[in-house]
Amino acid sequence: MLKRTYLVTGGAGFIGANYVKYLLSQFDDVNLIILDALTYAGNYGTIAGDVDGQRCQFVKGDICDKDLVTSLFEKYPIDVVVNFAAESHVDRSIVNPRLFLETNILGTQNLMDVARQFWVTGKDDNGYPTWKKGVRYHQVSTDEVYGSLGATGFFTETTALDPRSPYSASKTSADLIVRAYSETYKLPATITRCSNNYGPYHFPEKLIPLIIKNILEGKPLPVYGDGSNVRDWLYVEDHCKAIEAVVRKGKPGEVYNVGGHNEKQNIEIVRLTIATIRRLMEEEPAYRAVLKTDLSNVSEGLITYVQDRLGHDKRYAIDPTKMKEELGWYPETAFEAGIVKTIRWYLENQSWVDEVTSGEYQNYYERMYSNR
Ligand code: NAD
Ligand code: DAU
Repeated sequence: MLKRTYLVTGGAGFIGANYVKYLLSQFDDVNLIILDALTYAGNYGTIAGDVDGQRCQFVKGDICDKDLVTSLFEKYPIDVVVNFAAESHVDRSIVNPRLFLETNILGTQNLMDVARQFWVTGKDDNGYPTWKKGVRYHQVSTDEVYGSLGATGFFTETTALDPRSPYSASKTSADLIVRAYSETYKLPATITRCSNNYGPYHFPEKLIPLIIKNILEGKPLPVYGDGSNVRDWLYVEDHCKAIEAVVRKGKPGEVYNVGGHNEKQNIEIVRLTIATIRRLMEEEPAYRAVLKTDLSNVSEGLITYVQDRLGHDKRYAIDPTKMKEELGWYPETAFEAGIVKTIRWYLENQSWVDEVTSGEYQNYYERMYSNR
């Protein structure tokens, strides 16, 4: 069997770790090198059981570090780069934009430059580089590059780019650099733009895991503005399947939108999460052991409307028709099933939550929310 070697950046984060687990469990034809800087959002413990030093190796480091990335290409026969590594949280980008520009833009450019150094085999008659057979650079991007929708309409791959936060501006810039390399050097590159993911290993600064954590602790549930902003939620494993379909079958130079056709207002998500936790605790009393408050406090009384996010995008909604028609992908997990699976995972993995929220994050969390 012909084996391919993937460099998976950001593989200790939420989606990257789910992707690593998905690949290792579903495909025998891949070896993985995980490169992750282990920022506050990255946790080696999440993937420790997957790293075996043979099929799956781990390297701690920064995607902006040219010497390090070069040394990985020298050491391993890397054919595919899947770039998840990023600063991913919009609120943090409002506090510290520069870090987002460095990692998300310059990190992307650095990965592609090193790949170019190792993958180019010569020149064609028009002076364009020719590329080693089978190589692929894949950029994991976001629906936020399209900006904000009103009450109707969907983002398609041809919707104009219109980012509005430092985070989404940095992701858009990265997408444009990927396109530039694809046009100028013919780098075989693809981009996926996905909507909001949820599922296991989601860092509890993001809406769904934060709400779960606060409910279990009997703490206020911060809802920005009036809670009417809309996100299109997709179960993380469906996103991983979409990425792999694009890496294997997507056309170089193309963008693919990935979404769940599952729009919900934030306040609906919060109410549903409270109701689901309450129901699970009533049906399966053993779960009550993880409650740090009285079951009677698990109620909408915890909902607290707080100052809105600056420049808060109103609505996102993806049209994933191209993924369905060209690659046969569709979101398999219904939200009702996915949210129960996710909540159960958090109830059963509180030690993971404790691990990732110790230290630096705790200080940041207190700073962010003490003045809201
Ligand atoms: P995350 O914050 O959970 O994980 C990011 C990972 O990247 C962490 O492990 C972190 O340590 C690592 N990292 C950060 N800076 C790095 C650097 N300079 N060098 C190496 N590693 C670094 O993010 P996520 O939610 O898993 O998102 C992964 C990717 O998917 C991001 O590119 C994000 O923009 C994109 N995305 C996320 C969502 C979502 O809903 N979470 C939706 C669409 C697209
Ligand atoms: O759409 C894809 C994007 O989804 C990804 O590109 C980002 O990396 C990812 O972080 C996510 O961005 P959002 O800003 O949509 O996710 P977040 O979980 O931060 O917020 C979801 C919605 O909930 C948003 O409208 C803001 C709101 N919110 C969030 C938090 C953390 C609250 O009302 N209260 C909160 O405490």
